Amino acid sequence: MKVLVTGGCGYIGSHTVRALTAAGHHVVVLDSLVTGHRVALDERVPLIVGDLCDPKLLDDLFASEKFDAVVHFAAFIEVGESVTNPLKFYDNNVSNTINLLRAMQTHGVLKMVFSSTCAVFGTPDTMPLVETLPCNPASPYARAKYAVEWALEDSSTAWNLGYTALRYFNASGAASDGTIGEDHDPESHLIPIVLQVALGQREHVKIFGTDYDTPDGTCLRDYIHVEDLAAAHVAALEALEPGDKRVYNTGTGHGASVREIIDISRSVTGHPIPAIEAPRRPGDVPKLYADSSKIQRELGWSPEYTDLREIIASAWRWHESHPTGYNDKRK
Ligand code: UFG
Repeated sequence: MKVLVTGGCGYIGSHTVRALTAAGHHVVVLDSLVTGHRVALDERVPLIVGDLCDPKLLDDLFASEKFDAVVHFAAFIEVGESVTNPLKFYDNNVSNTINLLRAMQTHGVLKMVFSSTCAVFGTPDTMPLVETLPCNPASPYARAKYAVEWALEDSSTAWNLGYTALRYFNASGAASDGTIGEDHDPESHLIPIVLQVALGQREHVKIFGTDYDTPDGTCLRDYIHVEDLAAAHVAALEALEPGDKRVYNTGTGHGASVREIIDISRSVTGHPIPAIEAPRRPGDVPKLYADSSKIQRELGWSPEYTDLREIIASAWRWHESHPTGYNDKRK
């Protein structure tokens, strides 16, 4: 298939571009490079540097390239920033997605795989999370993602768009060959922060909250390897038909605590990784892990990386060999 990948220079996007290309799809990437990294993309993959806020660019692009489908990653991801600057998120993550959908409608492109998030569930009462649980997104980031899910559903009803929303859990790890990985600026995610401590770039990691109702008092998350997420996109794309309305929780089904992540990272890196206990981070929920049986059943996808040690080892290979990331954005 000929596929437009928005945000293909980002963390999950760049790994998915590789997986799509390896599966024989012809990929064109559209990325503003505001947060993405040009070097995360193979030079042979066509890159259009541009923004989804530009309807003319989208119209020209869809007129000149006959895409079969769109895989849509481009979005801001900082939950904390979304609380202080919500309109930035509604603008980029919702309005710009509407621009993209309008171009797809105009040019008859009827398939989209969309990056959604398990954060749409909010603070659920039951775990693991199944797709049928009520959604109650708690941050502007999550609400914006959920708003797009509604826009996709309504578009499917009105003009036969086929979509798959993948509700990611915690993307982690790096490419198995160590050449691409996670590089956010600023970094807020647990595993990269822990590994920056191991590299001597931070003195310690703060454990945000040790009094949660969990076995060791710290939050449980479902850490899924980024290559497994990438493979889920390929499976989703290949199964998608116009008019489909599909939503899948995309995780491993296993919840790991903050303390477990730190302990495994100590063992993987051989570094003591000092940790200090800190207050809860606003907006965090105690537990989030997936019931991913629906995607396993319907798409035949299942995660290859089931051992957290391997996930963290792959992240460590990337961070050790790229201690300042891609090194293309630092002042
Ligand atoms: N944490 C720490 N110390 C840190 C960083 C994180 O204790 O320095 C804790 C957090 O409090 C949380 C856990 O580690 O309990 C994981 O935090 P991350 O920031 O790595 O990931 P989140 O679960 O908060 O968020 C991620 C993505 C979001 C997505 C969300 C869905 O960043 O985009 O998963 O759960 F919406």
